[in-house]
Amino acid sequence: MLDRTPRVVIIGAGLQMGIEEKDIRDWAAGCFYGAAGANCVQALLALQDRFGYLPKIGMHEVARRLGITRAAVYGVATFYNQFRFTPPGRHAIKVCTGTACHIKQATKVLEHWERRLDLKTGGVTGDREYSLDRVACVGCCVMAPVTVIGEVVIGEMSPTKVDGILLRHRLAREKERSQAGTGEGGATENAEGAEE
Ligand code: FES
Repeated sequence: MLDRTPRVVIIGAGLQMGIEEKDIRDWAAGCFYGAAGANCVQALLALQDRFGYLPKIGMHEVARRLGITRAAVYGVATFYNQFRFTPPGRHAIKVCTGTACHIKQATKVLEHWERRLDLKTGGVTGDREYSLDRVACVGCCVMAPVTVIGEVVIGEMSPTKVDGILLRHRLAREKERSQAGTGEGGATENAEGAEE
């Protein structure tokens, strides 16, 4: 279910972040071939699924394909607060604040992420390591309160669990750095995969 909390965002130039027109054309060719092109929200969800955020040129393409104004597309995109307009961090953290999670203290979890990362919801850390977003129900209510990091769903979240995840990330980064320093190759630890 979409969260309909209105919000204000600033959409500036320079948000393309390496996404080429060709990437958008390729995405649009696939997306608008199927049902996703029938609806602006669905098209924007598909765009964000593909690129992790809504690149400006992608939104312009949605407007062109749907035959509506760019302002109308921006209006839709800014109406729903799960759309983001800047690229996510390396660890994209999404805290579910849907009803089941809200009842189980999701707000406390979100505030703890904000405190620990020194980051407001919707932002990205300066080193682009973390982004933090609030999302509506992700369909895992039985595990509430839920945080999704990348593709990994973590249930029964608590401030203590947040601390544990960040500690594991820090240790994984230190290990990556020491391996890089000693010239060791091989796969790096997937910190997300090591949450549970
Ligand atoms: S309300 Fe959070 S997973 Fe459903």
